[in-house]
Amino acid sequence: MSKQFRVAVVGATGAVGEVMLSILAERNFPVGELVALASERSAGGKVKFGHRDVVVQDLASFDPAGVDIALFSAGGSISKEFAPKFAAAGAVVIDNSSAFRYDDDVPLVVSEVNPEMVKERPRGIIANPNCSTMQLLVALAPIHRKAGIERLNIATYQSVSGTGRKALEELGKQTAGLLNFNPVESQVYPVQIAFNVIPHGGEFTDNGYTTEEMKLVWETRKILGDDAIRVNATVVRVPVFYGHSEVVNIETRDKLSATDARKLLETSPGIEVVDEHEPGGYPTPVTHASGNDAVYVGRIRDDLSHPHGLNLWIVADNIRKGAALNAVQIAELVAME
Ligand SMILES: NC(=O)c1ccc[n+]([C@@H]2O[C@H](COP(=O)([O-])OP(=O)(O)OC[C@H]3O[C@@H](n4cnc5c(N)ncnc54)[C@H](OP(=O)(O)O)[C@@H]3O)[C@@H](O)[C@H]2O)c1
Repeated sequence: MSKQFRVAVVGATGAVGEVMLSILAERNFPVGELVALASERSAGGKVKFGHRDVVVQDLASFDPAGVDIALFSAGGSISKEFAPKFAAAGAVVIDNSSAFRYDDDVPLVVSEVNPEMVKERPRGIIANPNCSTMQLLVALAPIHRKAGIERLNIATYQSVSGTGRKALEELGKQTAGLLNFNPVESQVYPVQIAFNVIPHGGEFTDNGYTTEEMKLVWETRKILGDDAIRVNATVVRVPVFYGHSEVVNIETRDKLSATDARKLLETSPGIEVVDEHEPGGYPTPVTHASGNDAVYVGRIRDDLSHPHGLNLWIVADNIRKGAALNAVQIAELVAME
């Protein structure tokens, strides 16, 4: 019989954790035992794993001994405290938070881009990139290999699910409330998100950019292994439930035409090109990304203002490829070792 793994999902009741459970089941990951962990608040409740209900246990009092693979998705402070304990007990930790992403001895892995890095894990921890970086790099890695990316100019249009379950509820409540002429209450976002767009994600840093913007800079360089790539990013939150979109302008060392880029992307892993020059002939979060695994690329155009410039529109389900799916794909790479 092939090896079965004792798999722990930390943050199993969250927006990402719930999808991790369903993707583990969908892809028939060889789970011998599934351990669902969350805070004391949710302990004793149940989550779905395939057709089974699994009782949620309290992370704080759980003994990690015997866990083979732990998928963490409960925020950075929880990862910082508990991931090293799971790793010390022998588990391979795959962490969704930003707690370890920039540590030199923790690999940052996109399964289609740098899968070989999963083996370089001296601390027993592998980091999953930020959702916006994830879909960006699935699309950009083939272009970087072919033509050498020198500079990126990115604007994101990020859905509220990227902020977690409470943000999904806030968009729903505000939308229903406003349509019924009720006043708006904002708790998750600093201003109304329903029927609005907010040029802010994460925390503001000293240079005026936000942490979500700087993640695109740091993570792109680390994953592509090239500190010379210049990245200019603006993060915008939009009233979409699932699916992040990105407008990306790329400057390459060698000329890559839109026609050649389209051909290259059509044969690259994890990507679906949707690029008909007609109304609706492009991917959107609702029509393509939500609930699906691929990274969708459309609106592929030569930059008319730059001889080595290229424009892309990149859309993906931020909870699936942007978080849970990539974490499970990393677990599959670990399971194959
Ligand atoms: N959403 C995305 O697109 C996305 C993408 C990439 C990475 N991430 C990262 O994934 C993590 C979770 O995101 P999310 O969107 O799933 O958030 P969420 O919906 O708010 O879920 C948070 C999860 O963490 C658990 N948790 C909170 N405090 C805990 C504690 N003290 N001990 C144990 N468990 C605790 C919650 O359990 P309770 O039910 O007990 O509260 C819940 O299961 C974050 O680090 C986030 O940055 C998210």
